[in-house]
Amino acid sequence: MRFHGTMRINDKGHLEIGGCDTVELARVFGTPLYVLDEELFRENCRAYRRAFARGNGRVLYAGKALLTLAVCRLLDEEGLGLDVVSGGELYTALQARFPASRIYVHGNNKSPAELRTALEAGVRRIVVDNLDELELLGRIVAELGTEADILLRLTPGIEAHTHEYIRTGQIDSKFGLVIPNGQALEGVRRSVELPGVRLRGLHCHIGSQIFELEPYADAARILMRFAREARDETGWTIEELNLGGGLGIYYTAGDDPPAVESLAETIFGAVAEAAGDRDLPVPEVTVEPGRSIAGPAGTTLYTVGTIKEIPGVRTYVAVDGGMGDNPRPALYGARYEACVAIKAGREADVTVSLAGRCCESGDMLIWDAELPALKTGDIVAVSCTGAYTYSMAGNYNRFPRPAMVLVRDGQAELIVRRESYADLIRNDLVPARLRDTMT
Ligand code: LLP
Repeated sequence: MRFHGTMRINDKGHLEIGGCDTVELARVFGTPLYVLDEELFRENCRAYRRAFARGNGRVLYAGKALLTLAVCRLLDEEGLGLDVVSGGELYTALQARFPASRIYVHGNNKSPAELRTALEAGVRRIVVDNLDELELLGRIVAELGTEADILLRLTPGIEAHTHEYIRTGQIDSKFGLVIPNGQALEGVRRSVELPGVRLRGLHCHIGSQIFELEPYADAARILMRFAREARDETGWTIEELNLGGGLGIYYTAGDDPPAVESLAETIFGAVAEAAGDRDLPVPEVTVEPGRSIAGPAGTTLYTVGTIKEIPGVRTYVAVDGGMGDNPRPALYGARYEACVAIKAGREADVTVSLAGRCCESGDMLIWDAELPALKTGDIVAVSCTGAYTYSMAGNYNRFPRPAMVLVRDGQAELIVRRESYADLIRNDLVPARLRDTMT
């Protein structure tokens, strides 16, 4: 397993994160346990701020990757903005006293209540996804007697994946307004004429876990070309260009993501050039990284339970978590690396498959992991689990969701309490007529 951030092997030969022995963390807080490396999380925020502060850039963290009250505090202290996609994320941010003036509100089906709350809180931008939403927003703005600064989300017709990207001119997406069929232009026209709505700029998001930079330059060019067309047609001038998130991270051998500085250089270069070519002012550039900030800063600790060897086939090592706390392997075939916490530096001598404990054959965390020999009770650490794990966790099979600790300088603080069995039935109700038979 590649080490990230403050990971190191301590005097006992155990994996340590943030100065905390992971075996000790497991003993004190139980497993499964999410461990968040505060120093690395902050460093990732700073790398983005440094890279994008060079130009007229702004960095928003995409809350969908991982959002808790404590995470909001870290983000606020690091001076990042925040992209939220739901009333729940917005509520979390506001409860954490994250400044609304740095919040962007996303979503392809925002409810009237979500829009109202966002406007009343004074968020910086509403990223409008479609024409229906624009009309709804116009009505709410009028009703509240307020104003809204918006971006329009466009579909640039670029699909980026880890190892390739394609220009499809694709118009078949649930997100955003399409350029070629005139919808995007219609969006600009309506935004400009709707009282109380101020169109500040354009947004797009081209994918996630992206290893190539060219798609970002391409997206910037497409949006700037459209901005020029929009100015010619309506007189509106772009002030902000938001290129979404998506920068990939290292999960397993072979993953080779570009540096944040290279992303910034590519984007600033393409935007400045496109602005020059199109005779437009250089807009403020916004990015929305989620995974590349939270992902490498998270590690999940599990305890090994049953070990089943099928001679000549494989050995299944079952741990006390799985798709409940990390649905990514089951959902996307995502791959991870692991180590045995008490033998962190030891060479691998067995190949085993780490199984989750849900009643699904697909609940496998890692197929064919090369690890030192391990036994029941050992603590296994799976790295790079900071993004899209806790935020996508569920209670399938009524397994409670794990706790999360923030580690730094040898201190571990609980930032998400472990769910209890009582939490699982908290919202269950038994109608009176079924209560009689509860003896
Ligand atoms: N902005 C927008 C509008 C987005 O839709 C997303 C991610 C981001 C920013 C942040 O992207 P990031 O930097 O984290 O790649 N559940 C999937 C990932 C879904 C990403 C959805 N949108 C996974 O676990 O791989």
